[in-house]
Amino acid sequence: MSKYLVTGGCGFIGSNFILHLLAKNPSARVINLDKLTYAGNPENLSDVSGDDRYRFVQGDICDAALVSELMPEADYVVHFAAETHVDRSLMEPGSFIQTDVFGTYTLLEAARQSPRLKRFLHVSTDEVYGEVLPTDAASTETDPFLPRSPYSASKAGGEMQCRAYVSTYELPVVIARPANNVGPRQHIEKFVPLCTTNALCDEPLPIYGDGQQVRDRLFVEDHCEALDLLLHEGEPGEAYNIGADNQRTNLEVAEFILDLLEKPRSLIRFVEDRAGHDRGYYLNSGKIRSLGWSPSHDFKATIEKTVDWYLQNPLWWEPVRDARFAEYYQQQYGKRLAEARPYTG
Ligand code: NAD
Ligand code: TYD
Repeated sequence: MSKYLVTGGCGFIGSNFILHLLAKNPSARVINLDKLTYAGNPENLSDVSGDDRYRFVQGDICDAALVSELMPEADYVVHFAAETHVDRSLMEPGSFIQTDVFGTYTLLEAARQSPRLKRFLHVSTDEVYGEVLPTDAASTETDPFLPRSPYSASKAGGEMQCRAYVSTYELPVVIARPANNVGPRQHIEKFVPLCTTNALCDEPLPIYGDGQQVRDRLFVEDHCEALDLLLHEGEPGEAYNIGADNQRTNLEVAEFILDLLEKPRSLIRFVEDRAGHDRGYYLNSGKIRSLGWSPSHDFKATIEKTVDWYLQNPLWWEPVRDARFAEYYQQQYGKRLAEARPYTG
């Protein structure tokens, strides 16, 4: 029997990972430590809330006393908890530094007092490399960090702490650097769910700038399989890129979603760009592929499965479009949409 301390398990990837782990591994035991910020939704784990292999602890990863209490129980730590939305990091960077840097340090401090711990899997991001253009070489794990947003800088800071704990304390940390994930239960502030739910409500889809920025789209289930592999096969002290090579421009993604839902492309609006917007990310994922992992979903399957999930689950996302989200939406998009450029095809 192995015990997993998962942080941020009520969020998008964390909840998919916990469901994946408990379905695949009958003897796994999971403690989910989650603060339940606006991004955390206990509904995400309603399928396992009564499972005696699963325990939820509401709390903050920055709370050293709480983290020290939970850590000795864990064979594995899988660290997802973070502030994750680039746009919010432009409005208010402080909470990103607090959770993504200080919170990571707090977990590492407790982990180094825990001889039982086999692996500390830190979920970082491809955004630590900074902007990568189609003409550049794809990022490899030894490339320098050049983060450009408060979000990516705080993720880079957390990861740097991990690397220091590997060399200083020989902590068995493995680092994952995944591409943009999509799939069930992603918060509707993120691009693919935002486009999908706005389209379903016949509301405009805000595209930043010219819409030619490129992102890879990794289906969350493929990502969970990669993380599971790294927990057992990842070398302590090593980082692993996790990309699906499903690169498309944001405009292509929005058009594809509208076509799938049989909604008019005229719902697209070009709005004022995000400050410091990275125009692309490209990962070389040869290192994790050499361990035997490869994604099962191409671009089309990734978006189709995701859109279908939102189509089938309005009871999940309609309550998330609440007054708190409306206030954020107005702040983020009100002026932008008033000054938007229409789609001309
Ligand atoms: P999310 O925003 O959906 O969920 C984050 C979760 O962390 C929420 O449940 C929230 O309540 C919890 N949390 C936030 N602050 C906390 C704190 N101080 N203490 C305890 N819990 C706290 O995030 P996600 O999209 O699932 O991302 C998970 C991880 O993967 C993050 O570390 C993120 O940086 C990384 N990542 C995400 C993507 C992506 O495309 N979503 C891509 C690359 C890397
Ligand atoms: P996002 O989902 O915020 O992920 P990230 O910025 O971490 O990659 O955004 C994905 C892409 O979509 C990114 O290039 C920004 C763009 N985008 C828009 O064009 N409009 C939007 O309303 C949002 C939220 C994102």
